[in-house]
Amino acid sequence: MNKEVLASHVADIEAGMKEYMPEENGYQRTVFEAVNYSLLAGGKRLRPMFLYEAYRMFGGTDEKAVRPFMMALEMIHTYSLVHDDLPAMDNDEYRRGKLTTHKKFGEAMGILSGDALLNGAFETAFLAFDSETEAAQIGRALKILGHKAGMYGMVGGQVVDVEKDGCFMDEDMLYFVHKNKTSALIEAALMTGAVLAGADEKQAAVMEQCGTDIGLAFQIQDDILDVIGDQEKLGKPVHSDEKNENGSIRIWNRCLPSKSERLYRQRNRGTGGSRYPWKRTPGVFGGINEISGRKRNVKRMIVWKKYWIVL
Ligand code: IPE
Ligand code: IPE
Ligand code: MG
Ligand code: MG
Repeated sequence: MNKEVLASHVADIEAGMKEYMPEENGYQRTVFEAVNYSLLAGGKRLRPMFLYEAYRMFGGTDEKAVRPFMMALEMIHTYSLVHDDLPAMDNDEYRRGKLTTHKKFGEAMGILSGDALLNGAFETAFLAFDSETEAAQIGRALKILGHKAGMYGMVGGQVVDVEKDGCFMDEDMLYFVHKNKTSALIEAALMTGAVLAGADEKQAAVMEQCGTDIGLAFQIQDDILDVIGDQEKLGKPVHSDEKNENGSIRIWNRCLPSKSERLYRQRNRGTGGSRYPWKRTPGVFGGINEISGRKRNVKRMIVWKKYWIVL
């Protein structure tokens, strides 16, 4: 998909979103403003785009069924970011190139607009029942959406991510965090799109696996960009993970791994069977190598658990 096509999809999604957004009036106007501010702050709109493409891939044509789900998923994603930026979580001031919702509207509105977006997402998804699509298909898609967004999905991943700030995570736990905090909503996109168009359980499971792998690669890139990226281009602060002592990725200067990490690498060397895609297919992520302590004179490197990226 080239850049122009991508931009036209984003414009189309944003135009469609306005249809489902609240009007800014009434006593609770501030929460409407905060919701709209968060939703329209920009963003790549990847999840609704994935959902739509999966829907079309399985032959779906009912726009009145798929659009509410695309919007609902973007609302859930946006709420997860609004809460992720709160002082109690990553405490970040910029998102998508603008002040974070709590910086603009205050912490209470940050919390409440996140709550409103989550609830609003389901109110919006239910609108799919006004379409021609079979209610059973919509019901299955709703079940996936609720499950992947909640404590067995995105929320579960965020819990462990926050709880383990500053701690060593082994591969299993790190996998759990990435699979849930990031892959879960991408899995939801691909699965709900497929299921709404009539995919069966087996087909939905294949889409789920695609979502898992895309999410892992996506989160690793996000973590690397947090170290070597540029705030102007990213629209959010860099070094947020370092500030929060988030365990995913660190820059180490002239440093060798800690004893526990060295032991962990030794114990796991050559065991294979990793769930990380680049370990299953060496060479896909050429810049990420397991160099296990051989590079003693490296000046600067990123240590991403067992994987070292030499800069
Ligand atoms: C950011 O997601 C949060 C992560 C799961 C890494 P995106 O990078 O898709 O955020 P926007 O929607 O484009 O701002
Ligand atoms: C955010 O993860 C993931 C969710 C909100 C579910 P991060 O904290 O790593 O993402 P950014 O860097 O703030 O976007
Ligand atoms: Mg976070
Ligand atoms: Mg964050």
